[in-house]
Amino acid sequence: MAEILIRAAGETDIEGILGIVNGYAAQNLMLPRTADQIRRVVRWFLVAEHEGNIVGCGSNVELSPRLTELRSLAVASEYRSTGLGRRLVDALVARARADGYDQICALTLSEGFFNRCGFVTVDRWAISSKIWHECIYCPKFDACDEIAVLMNLTEPATAPTALAPEVSMELWQGLKLALVGQ
Ligand SMILES: CC(C)(COP(=O)(O)OP(=O)(O)OC[C@H]1O[C@@H](n2cnc3c(N)ncnc32)[C@H](O)[C@@H]1OP(=O)(O)O)[C@@H](O)C(=O)NCCC(=O)NCCS
Repeated sequence: MAEILIRAAGETDIEGILGIVNGYAAQNLMLPRTADQIRRVVRWFLVAEHEGNIVGCGSNVELSPRLTELRSLAVASEYRSTGLGRRLVDALVARARADGYDQICALTLSEGFFNRCGFVTVDRWAISSKIWHECIYCPKFDACDEIAVLMNLTEPATAPTALAPEVSMELWQGLKLALVGQ
């Protein structure tokens, strides 16, 4: 069996990324993405390639100069439970560390997997830059079932605490009403 290569993504990988992500979105496991959305951030993606096919993906998206988010992590169904998800996470964590971030976070339904990869579960409302950037515009904002996980990149021995001050759900809902109007 040919080796599975993890490498930086390019424009020609967009269809492959969409195929995996939107396949899981149809099962309500991930948020759906459009080609334009992926194109804007494709330079932050890593992909796993096997025999010419994209079989996994994941990205780092900056939330603040100190905090990056691990986003759009997915492994094609026939490649799951082979260690490929962990390889992608390890590569994305290594890149975030090399880029100088202090912490990496994710919002996920796969809390157990991220815990196995060294992330600690934290209060979602504490990752305020994520909520400010994206969640506030999400249709699932008021009924979000995703769990926040966080890893320190500079002091791996210390349990992470969120960088931003904790903000209550009520305050976020007020801000959302003011900004988005619903
Ligand atoms: C979540 C996902 C990326 C994991 O990738 P994977 O290749 O199946 O996982 P791995 O084989 O690398 O598993 C690594 C470890 O995590 C464990 N693990 C995997 N999924 C798990 C889960 N849902 N809950 C708890 N542990 C899990 C594995 O047993 C393994 O444990 P080990 O340390 O004892 O070997 C993959 O299942 C997937 O694409 N899921 C659908 C999309 C999704 O939910 N993405 C996450 C959105 S942020």
